[in-house]
Amino acid sequence: MMKTNHHLQYGSLANIYGAFLTLSGFKRGVESFLDRIDFNFSPGAKIFDGGCGTGLFALYFARRFPESDIYASDIEPRMLRELEDVIVKDGISNISVFRNDLNFPEELFDFRSGRKISIQQNFFDSILLSGALEHVDAEKTIQRLSLILKPGGSFLNLGVKQSPAGAVLGMVYKFKPHSLAELSEICRGAGFEDIHSLPLEPKDFPANLSRVAILARKKI
Ligand SMILES: C[S@@+](CC[C@H](N)C(=O)[O-])C[C@H]1O[C@@H](n2cnc3c(N)ncnc32)[C@H](O)[C@@H]1O
Repeated sequence: MMKTNHHLQYGSLANIYGAFLTLSGFKRGVESFLDRIDFNFSPGAKIFDGGCGTGLFALYFARRFPESDIYASDIEPRMLRELEDVIVKDGISNISVFRNDLNFPEELFDFRSGRKISIQQNFFDSILLSGALEHVDAEKTIQRLSLILKPGGSFLNLGVKQSPAGAVLGMVYKFKPHSLAELSEICRGAGFEDIHSLPLEPKDFPANLSRVAILARKKI
């Protein structure tokens, strides 16, 4: 059974969360950062956005790679409902929405039917996380994510920067920012290689103030 009680802050913010990302410029900053990354997805590529919230990553990748197949999941139904509304309003056909506890990324529940879908090993071409790893057991989650990622598949984490402000926010919202060193070590242990940090730049403002990215590839 999925526990949601300590994520209620996201549920109660759900209807303003997407608008906040847009109005604050955060969405534009993240997209300017993502635009610089040379993702090479073939048509039909399966992409997982875990802890998708209202779909910051899912919507970006669905538009940039219209022939890809995006699996967007979150533990908080009210965030997913906001994403579903955008999908319907904009007629987006390549995002499927799932309820899921990212601690167990191989178990997805179709958001509309509740039907459980078990993800097979080596299933996804890419796994993309933004601000979600901080809410789960990072080591166990990355190990499990590695299992469902194809050999050679890419893993991107756009995480919360470790900073005094991040620490305070973490206490309020109950999340744990990780250092790049810590995440790199976890990724190495989970079978990733070619692990490097990707800088956010001033032109990605304001996302560059609070976020830091790591990109890795699962060993072939
Ligand atoms: C900071 S928000 C990031 C949302 C989105 N990825 C973005 O970048 O805008 C964190 C998200 O993680 C979700 N979350 C928290 N704990 C989770 C868990 N155990 N499994 C899945 N999602 C979780 C929250 O509901 C929330 O939507």
